[in-house]
Amino acid sequence: MSREKWGTKLGFMLAAMGSAVGLGNIWRFSFVAGNNGGGAFLLLYLLFVILIAVPLLLTEVSIGRRAQSDVVGSYKKLAPGTPWFLSGFFGVFSAFLILGFYCVVAGWSIYYFWNYLTGYFSTQPEAGYGAAFGEFTSHSWQPLFWVALFMTLTIIIVVSGVKKGIESANKIFMPLLAIILIILAFYSLSFEGASEGVRFLFSPDWSAFSDPGIYIAALGQAFFSLSLGMGAMLTYGSYLSNDHKLPGATIGIGLMDSFFAIISGIVIFPAVFAFGIDPASGPPLVFITLPTIFEQIPFGGIVGLVFFFALVLAALSSSISILEVPTAYFMRIFNWSRRFSSILTGAIMFVLGIIVSLGFGIWAGVTPIGENNILDSMDYIASNVLLPLGGLSMALFVGWYFTKEQALDATDFTGSRVGNVWYVIIKFVAPISILLIFLNALGIL
Ligand code: PHE
Repeated sequence: MSREKWGTKLGFMLAAMGSAVGLGNIWRFSFVAGNNGGGAFLLLYLLFVILIAVPLLLTEVSIGRRAQSDVVGSYKKLAPGTPWFLSGFFGVFSAFLILGFYCVVAGWSIYYFWNYLTGYFSTQPEAGYGAAFGEFTSHSWQPLFWVALFMTLTIIIVVSGVKKGIESANKIFMPLLAIILIILAFYSLSFEGASEGVRFLFSPDWSAFSDPGIYIAALGQAFFSLSLGMGAMLTYGSYLSNDHKLPGATIGIGLMDSFFAIISGIVIFPAVFAFGIDPASGPPLVFITLPTIFEQIPFGGIVGLVFFFALVLAALSSSISILEVPTAYFMRIFNWSRRFSSILTGAIMFVLGIIVSLGFGIWAGVTPIGENNILDSMDYIASNVLLPLGGLSMALFVGWYFTKEQALDATDFTGSRVGNVWYVIIKFVAPISILLIFLNALGIL
């Protein structure tokens, strides 16, 4: 059977944007930015996106397109007889880890959507939204129902295939999400006191740069948000043929992803400040503070409904790209059908999701890393360690294993001046920056 392909280049772009734009832009961006001082974090994050992440995105997609294979197969094909394929295993492993916690947060999102649909969250539950969130997430099996629902939806789309499932779903999801968020941003900006939130997000407090944690946090966010370093973009690139030019497409994806992060910042922070909520409330920020805000605004019940609908869509268009990584890999090595491969991998991720979910209930005392619960620990390892390491190895692969001609050819940069800049970034700037940030996070620098 011949490998599947995207229907059009636009289809690829929408799918890649769908992968990039997700809980990372809304849920994760807002609490990481809130925890790390807002403006200073945003500045650093954007710097890393431009300097490291977008050039790496081009690199990652180009590996997949050139090899026309999954994340492990690509390395095996392009560098036969070398240990480079181990870097592909890392990617498959990261996919399990990431979807293992992603599906839990996505499950909460569906639950919230449901509660707006039934009207339960339109008015504050007696004990408050914070308590309602705590009670729900600490329940042993209730959240799991929603996690299972989310994984089922993800699997259904992936089973439907690259063109009919992934591509068509994204064609509807992405424009819809953009419209919803832009309307919400205007809403949020109209609150009295909104300007303080705008200032928090856009005017950097320079002293925040002396906090060592901010660099690794911004790097991890750039990788997570652009779906970089674990092979999701590589796998999507492998369904592209050579007649589509890559550089413009990857810049577009990077711009779009940052646009969505900034827009959701504009939705969340003005409202957070207008209603006197602590921006550093951590991972529950979206789930506790937003309903509080929605309750106080006119038509809040509808705004909440639409918001959580958008959040679920954004999560789905990303989760399918994560599930696709091991699905494509197992399909090739075991000759499994798409259906069998995605159901089995999805089921394993759901089991991980059970562990993560119980980390809010009976296993609340389990803190694998520092004071972080299971979800935060998995997120930390995946986003701040595994993804940047994966990206580092991709940069080294194309920058040092390929010849310069091969690297420029793989990225459609032959004879281009911008191509030379990209090459210097991939060969020197990105690897060195990632290493420096790692050393800094380890306290060595
Ligand atoms: N980029 C996605 C988001 O922002 C998450 C993701 C990470 C997807 C890694 C694929 C790979 O939600």
